[in-house]
Amino acid sequence: MRSRVIVVTGTPGTGKTSLCRRIVSRNKGWVHLDVGQFAVEVNAVIGYDDSLETSIVDTDILKRALLKHVSKRVEEGLHILIDGHYAAEVSPVKHVDYCLVLRCRPDVLWRRLTNLKRYSEDKARMNVESEITDYCYLMAKLHLKRKRIVQLDTTGISVGKTYTRFMECYREGFRCKGDVVDWVNFLLENPGKMSFLFR
Ligand SMILES: Nc1ncnc2c1ncn2[C@@H]1O[C@H](COP(=O)(O)OP(=O)(O)OP(=O)(O)O)[C@@H](O)[C@H]1O
Ligand SMILES: [Mg+2]
Repeated sequence: MRSRVIVVTGTPGTGKTSLCRRIVSRNKGWVHLDVGQFAVEVNAVIGYDDSLETSIVDTDILKRALLKHVSKRVEEGLHILIDGHYAAEVSPVKHVDYCLVLRCRPDVLWRRLTNLKRYSEDKARMNVESEITDYCYLMAKLHLKRKRIVQLDTTGISVGKTYTRFMECYREGFRCKGDVVDWVNFLLENPGKMSFLFR
């Protein structure tokens, strides 16, 4: 079977790593590449931005290293999951087959980030704003425009259910419809759900 390269992107906290771990634990021949960890391993991290509370990455170094690494994995016939909130921007387009964008409703994502991942309120707010404005989906459309891009909403469902939906989609060669999300409209219709953003 030919190798498949799948970009798994989405705002931090949408469940990319949880899903990728589930996929590799259940399927032989699949490997998981966490872009953030990979950037550290290949010395692409060149500093830290205190105001954004995030590492600064030299994307040229990272892209070159990713191209080399992914090419090798493809030759080995492996299925590769490239996991990261900026994975669509740095993955080698020529090798990418599909892109999965995980989504999560803003109020639920806020709870995941502040409770589960212990983000500061400022950092959680920045990420929730990115989710509301479809940032990762737009980046996927921009950088991987000729590839099949599917969104899956993880709001209120377990990692196991997300896994089942992913596998169905994968078996259909990413021809599945996926989910359409419109968080701005959701917040307009449920104004009480956005109070956390403005406190
Ligand atoms: N349906 C779901 N799918 C995936 N994760 C879920 C789901 N429901 C709840 N979660 C929880 O949300 C959190 C998501 O964390 P995870 O580290 O997988 O996200 P991530 O997208 O990899 O974030 P980051 O970009 O910061 O690495 C975990 O605590 C996970 O258990
Ligand atoms: Mg992760």
